[in-house]
Amino acid sequence: MGSDPRRRVGNLGAPVDAQALETQALAAVAAASSTEDVERVRIEYLGRKSALKLALREVRDRETGMALNALRERLEAAIDGREAELSRAELDRRLTEERVDVTMPGAAVRRGHLHLITQIRREVEDIFLGLGYTVVDGREVETTRYNFDGLNFPEGHPSRSPLQTLFLDPETVLRTETSPSQIRTMEAQKPPVYVVSLGRCYRRDTPDATHTPTFHQAEGLAVDEGITLADLLGTLDYLCKALFGEGRRTRFVTHHFPFTEPSVEAYVSCHLCDGSGCPVCRHSGWIEVGGSGMVDPNLFEFVGYDPERYTGFAFGWGLERIAVLRHGIPDLRELWRNDPRLLRQF
Ligand code: DAH
Repeated sequence: MGSDPRRRVGNLGAPVDAQALETQALAAVAAASSTEDVERVRIEYLGRKSALKLALREVRDRETGMALNALRERLEAAIDGREAELSRAELDRRLTEERVDVTMPGAAVRRGHLHLITQIRREVEDIFLGLGYTVVDGREVETTRYNFDGLNFPEGHPSRSPLQTLFLDPETVLRTETSPSQIRTMEAQKPPVYVVSLGRCYRRDTPDATHTPTFHQAEGLAVDEGITLADLLGTLDYLCKALFGEGRRTRFVTHHFPFTEPSVEAYVSCHLCDGSGCPVCRHSGWIEVGGSGMVDPNLFEFVGYDPERYTGFAFGWGLERIAVLRHGIPDLRELWRNDPRLLRQF
């Protein structure tokens, strides 16, 4: 075999054609289109098992060694250059493609709002604040003294039974109505009294379309010299119109509550049929909205007010009932399910 050392450098008898190798390697470098390609080219032409490295190991003469080393350096430079070029291009592309535009509008977060019952609670409070009343807090956990005794519930009244009322112990209940706040208010202050007290009440009811064991009431109490039934009727008429609309008419029917005498139940003309009769008002034209009456003198005696000097009226309305009447909610349990699709509507 011919023995030109420039053409015949190689190992195990495999000659390396330095010229051809360089051309081939540079073509591969130029063809590399990603940094991974460049890495493969580097392994192929400069790796430990590459023809060039093997040839270098076999070098016997200085001249060939220098020539191959020069070739190695050229290839290294070409590969490094291509690698830098491609990684810069890749970085540029990522910077453009993956750029986060901080000025883009974000995904909108839907804003919540108060639960319908809370809205109505605040609305009733506002109506009475506008009439000069004060809003007072009651207690959800009450003693039988305030929940029954002070309110003139006789012994043996069905409400005193654990079948109707949730007892924590024989003297402590979850209040069954907001009326105990009347006794607490009168014990705490002298007349005149103009207060409303709104909040949760509890009864041992099985949930159905018209009952939930937890519900809300708005209690009102006015005690002063010379208060008459006309003041009660006028106030409730005003309340009905504020809640259900100016066009509403009111009607009052006698009833019975232990803590009022006389007792009155308020009706408002049906807002759906305007009194002509429809399924909502059961074809009567009227809808019952809540209890009220003139404060029984026994309550004044209980709290130490002079029943000869003072008279007063009181009322207690259900907030759920107001919600049902205003919005036609078919089932009270919907208010507790907390399905946003329902709640969002109000
Ligand atoms: N507490 C009564 C109830 O839950 C409602 C009520 C009626 C409240 C007459 C009053 C009132 O203050 O005077 O059914």
